[in-house]
Amino acid sequence: MTEWTPDARELADLELLLSGAYAPLTGFLTSAEVESVVERGRLPGGASWPDPITIALPDEFGPGDRVTLRDPEGAAVAVLTVVERDGHHAAGPVEALDAPVYGPFSRLRRAPEEVRKDLPDGEVLAVTMRGPLDGAALDDVAATAEELDATVLLMPLVFGEGGPAVVRAALKAAERLPGATVVAVPLAPREDTEIDLELREHVARNYGATEHYAGPAPVSIPGPPHKRGLVVFFTGLSGSGKSTIARGLRDALLERGGRAVTYLDGDVVRRMLSAGLTFSREDRDRNIRRIGFVAAEVARHGGLAICAPIAPYAATRDEVRAMVEEVGGDFLLVHVATPLEECERRDRKGLYAKARAGLIPEFTGISDPYEEPEDADLVLDTTDMTIERAVGAVLNVVSSGGWVR
Ligand code: ADX
Repeated sequence: MTEWTPDARELADLELLLSGAYAPLTGFLTSAEVESVVERGRLPGGASWPDPITIALPDEFGPGDRVTLRDPEGAAVAVLTVVERDGHHAAGPVEALDAPVYGPFSRLRRAPEEVRKDLPDGEVLAVTMRGPLDGAALDDVAATAEELDATVLLMPLVFGEGGPAVVRAALKAAERLPGATVVAVPLAPREDTEIDLELREHVARNYGATEHYAGPAPVSIPGPPHKRGLVVFFTGLSGSGKSTIARGLRDALLERGGRAVTYLDGDVVRRMLSAGLTFSREDRDRNIRRIGFVAAEVARHGGLAICAPIAPYAATRDEVRAMVEEVGGDFLLVHVATPLEECERRDRKGLYAKARAGLIPEFTGISDPYEEPEDADLVLDTTDMTIERAVGAVLNVVSSGGWVR
């Protein structure tokens, strides 16, 4: 199979490579180019370039492969011809396939060439925005444009959940800036503020800008925790008490009221969402990703999701955390660390006996691994703890964090 779905940042970079907004780049950088950019802020040929644009591909893709890159909905966006592999990264030129452009305000995601054609001759003042311009910033832009006799090009940088709001802010600003053009650019923010600024400048210049005004960084006010999405994710061995505590938490939250609660019970998930999956590593990972997907959707809309699978692999738990945080939700990991001996002594479902007798292969803790979390927000051992106390401990974290009032 020579297809791959890059992550959201890579797809954003891909769109900019294809549109010409990243000119002179025409593909993902090779290791020599990356090194040159990181060390000198320049491409090997000497052109200045601030940020290594790379893509991670699975190991099976090697030099010579032509990989179809698809967006998450399956549209084929581009073909990447791999010329080099360096660790997880693959380098090579990309060619556009004519995938339909969709998404909110997609009509404003225009290519630089097209925008440049429409701009009048003379100075162009580009304003890159990641949040609204306040009155002072608007006055500033208007005054600068008048002074330079420049056309204003408002460039809302759209990446992630906040994208549409930034475009709306730009359209609103345009009403106050006669003759201004709005073009949406999928430029993901860079952690290093200097690199971020330089990259904005490069992109703005490619759109025809002669001057660049960096809109103020948005004062991101994530909203109070009791209105934010929350995922309480229990992990632990079979029989550790996860489900019992999770149910107790759900009930206590419903009794308090004030939050929409979804409980993704492990057994219900295995019967519905994950019906047919086995307990191989691949299927366990699938199971956890499915749970994570649903939990993240709940969190996206400000709900509270409680999950209680074994989730034996740290990397997969990390993926779920990332999925939730990506949509602006919070993630609490509760490790129900009741030791194996105690779980086995209880053996509520008689499964440990069967596993010991070799009747259940790949049984977590007996013949299959459980990776202890190192990043748990709360660790509970139910050996000598009542359910009430365990639930109380979780509730305590949830209310002291402000997630319920
Ligand atoms: S996970 O590994 O994918 O997170 P999950 O929580 O859905 O597991 O299912 C675990 C439950 O399935 C256990 O509580 C137990 O009742 C049952 N089960 C059946 N086979 C196995 C197995 N091989 N390993 C662990 N649990 C199993």
